[in-house]
Amino acid sequence: MPGIAIVGAQWGDEGKGKVVDLLAEDAEAIVRFQGGNNAGHTIVRDGEEFKFHLIPSGILYPGKLCMIGNGVVLDPRVLLEEIDGLKRRGIDVANLRISANAHLIMPYHVLLDTAGEIKLGKLSIGTTRRGIGPCYADKALRLGIRVQDLLDEKILRKKIMAALEPKQQALRELSVQRRKLRKEAGEGSREGGDQSVAEAPDPRLDLHAMSEEFAAYGHRLEPHIADTARLCWETLDAGGTVLFEGAQATLLDLDHGTYPFVTSSNPVAGAACVGAGVGPADIDEVWGVAKAYATRVGAGPFPTELEDEVGRHMLERGHEFGTTTGRERRCGWMDLVALRYAVRLNRMSALAITKLDVLSGIDPLRVAVRYRSREGAVFDSFPYHQSILHSAEPEYEELPGFDADISDCRSEADLPPQARAYLDFVAEHAGVPIRLVGVGPGRDQVVWIGEKRSVP
Ligand code: IMP
Repeated sequence: MPGIAIVGAQWGDEGKGKVVDLLAEDAEAIVRFQGGNNAGHTIVRDGEEFKFHLIPSGILYPGKLCMIGNGVVLDPRVLLEEIDGLKRRGIDVANLRISANAHLIMPYHVLLDTAGEIKLGKLSIGTTRRGIGPCYADKALRLGIRVQDLLDEKILRKKIMAALEPKQQALRELSVQRRKLRKEAGEGSREGGDQSVAEAPDPRLDLHAMSEEFAAYGHRLEPHIADTARLCWETLDAGGTVLFEGAQATLLDLDHGTYPFVTSSNPVAGAACVGAGVGPADIDEVWGVAKAYATRVGAGPFPTELEDEVGRHMLERGHEFGTTTGRERRCGWMDLVALRYAVRLNRMSALAITKLDVLSGIDPLRVAVRYRSREGAVFDSFPYHQSILHSAEPEYEELPGFDADISDCRSEADLPPQARAYLDFVAEHAGVPIRLVGVGPGRDQVVWIGEKRSVP
């Protein structure tokens, strides 16, 4: 199994990190191929919790090559915090490699992301405000700063200057907004208050300070900067296994998701080639990860959303709070129309279903099998038109629920018959086999279906 892409099949937060962590055991290298620190993975290892935003999940294995590919947008401050955090816990990061071609999230990207969301008001996307969209926009505009630019202070400064120039208007508006907010809060206008604080330009946007700060990041990151595409080729050509780790998910894909309520990159498996620098024939398997129900953070259509006590059960039992922003996730039933779409779009060869344990105690279980539009048209496949999706009513099939605590189940036979029937129904409708089922947060809390892999 030399090249395996692992992607989200829903709206993100499916538990891809855990699946990558498990598959990484048999892999030589793991590479993240898109997104940035808008993502968040939680891995529980021997009762210890690890949260990552940028570093690939495989870092917990000594000796595996862990790469941040060219398709990722990288906030160096966040990456260095993660590196320092791992070092403090005694984890070796010597095998971390960062693509010299990855783009950097700059302080103005973060400010512009927030400002854009505020400007959109009620129409806001609900971004993570980590600067993802503005950074990818600069990449497309060819105004991006790349990791390799950190290594030459002169070039770095010139590029930052060029990138800042077209943003002056927006940044000026921002600082006016900021001043107004500060004034309203009483800062700098109180008797004895420091007026210069309210009037001062944002220090994060000072060209000199920014260039110095980023050059310092460059010094620290230099040992990790590499030609990661070549490292992927070398591993694959030597018969090794490379995992292509996706972030976010299919329905948040810039091209194929619920635009504009999407992220600014392509989380689908096809993007692994571009974002890691390999060819389509290098990817032998595509694993999709889906929760046994569905969740979404941020705004946008979510046909099977529940706003009742069943949704509350999922939120509470599933601890559905964002790893990155802490926001409550919206919860709903498993949506097989959307899942079938994700299966085909990614040409998935296997599914991993996570958090099946959260459904225990819900009876009956419902799964959406088709949508019906306001006008009564039936949609067996995912509608491409936004307006239809926004108003689509799902039609459900009901399946019997189960009450038992399944968190100790380790084989298919341990699962209650209703849980097995639920999985069979999902696999049949999705058209791909389920290979792995998550029954709890721990890395051992999994049920392998079919060929068993060893989990220490
Ligand atoms: P952005 O990626 O921060 O621009 O946010 C765009 C949309 O994608 C928002 O709805 C976010 O909530 C969502 N999003 C981004 N990253 C993740 C993730 O890792 N999990 C779930 N949703 C995400």
